[in-house]
Amino acid sequence: MAGQGFAARLLAWYDRHGRRDLPWRRAVTPYRVWVSEIMLQQTRVSTAIPFFERFVARFPDVASLAAADEEEVLAHWAGLGYYARARNLHRAARRILADHGGELPRDPQALQRLPGIGRSTAGAILSIAFEQPAAILDGNVRRVLARHAGVEGWPGSTAVAERLWRLAEERLPASRCGDYSQALMDLGAVLCTRVRPVCAACPVSEDCLARRQGRQTELPAPRPARTLPVRRRRWLLVLDAEGRLLFERRPPEGLWGGLWAFPELAAEVPPTLGGWRLQPFRELPARRHAFSHFVLEYHPLLCRAEPQATAEHPGRRWAALGELHRLPLPAPVRALAEALFKGAELAD
Ligand code: ADE
Repeated sequence: MAGQGFAARLLAWYDRHGRRDLPWRRAVTPYRVWVSEIMLQQTRVSTAIPFFERFVARFPDVASLAAADEEEVLAHWAGLGYYARARNLHRAARRILADHGGELPRDPQALQRLPGIGRSTAGAILSIAFEQPAAILDGNVRRVLARHAGVEGWPGSTAVAERLWRLAEERLPASRCGDYSQALMDLGAVLCTRVRPVCAACPVSEDCLARRQGRQTELPAPRPARTLPVRRRRWLLVLDAEGRLLFERRPPEGLWGGLWAFPELAAEVPPTLGGWRLQPFRELPARRHAFSHFVLEYHPLLCRAEPQATAEHPGRRWAALGELHRLPLPAPVRALAEALFKGAELAD
């Protein structure tokens, strides 16, 4: 059967080639394992090491982390990115103190109720800190299992993820659960890499289906290309008598929050602006700007404002070309404003 002795072979390899020198593998405590797993969720091992050392030197246990100010916790995270991780660690430390007597819970459900701990992180903590037979499935482990068992499909889909979780659980060893989790992580990081995996050195290559079929680079399958939804918006490029352009500050939450941009309307509605009458005089070609989840298609419309519209208004301001550099503008807004000022549009 494929997978026979999988864990035993991995553990033997780990004993000879595992990265034993990592700081969270020395002086193992549940707290240190937890902190390291949160850091390693989105940070590579070599980057995480000095941050981990400084973090646990300043906050050596749950109680010291819970007692700290959030500001100081964030300061020790500065440079790592994804700061929600630090805020969640801090909140979770306070919850562990209040609800679990200051000890990380050993129960998978209780662990996963703590902020920042998902199924795989819970599995890592349970196996590494408590030697429980709990599975992990981070990006590296998905790659190892998808290749070894020849699992088709994108691991981000529910069906494929379920299949991989089942495989991860079926292959758990009866003992050395923590070493096994870390052996899988190391194999994925060191040998079973995304490009150019080192199959010749791999302890489980002999029954690896991807290798047998020469499909290491095809598995796991990438995320299917998505066609992004298109949002159509009217951008009002309002000029006053002096040839200045009108900008509005965007609401603090949401897209381009707090930046200055052109007044934006739904594409279909007639151009009005807070009771002013505008005189549209030129439609410019629509352009597109891609965000991660949608495409913004903006339709610029050049308008003249009636003279009284130039009055002061909170959240609105008029700017000439020479003032643009002082305004925080999203890139497409800046590009359009500069093209407009520098082109011939203002001449007519
Ligand atoms: N990535 C996530 N957890 C890890 C660990 N404990 N050791 C090495 N790499 C990891």
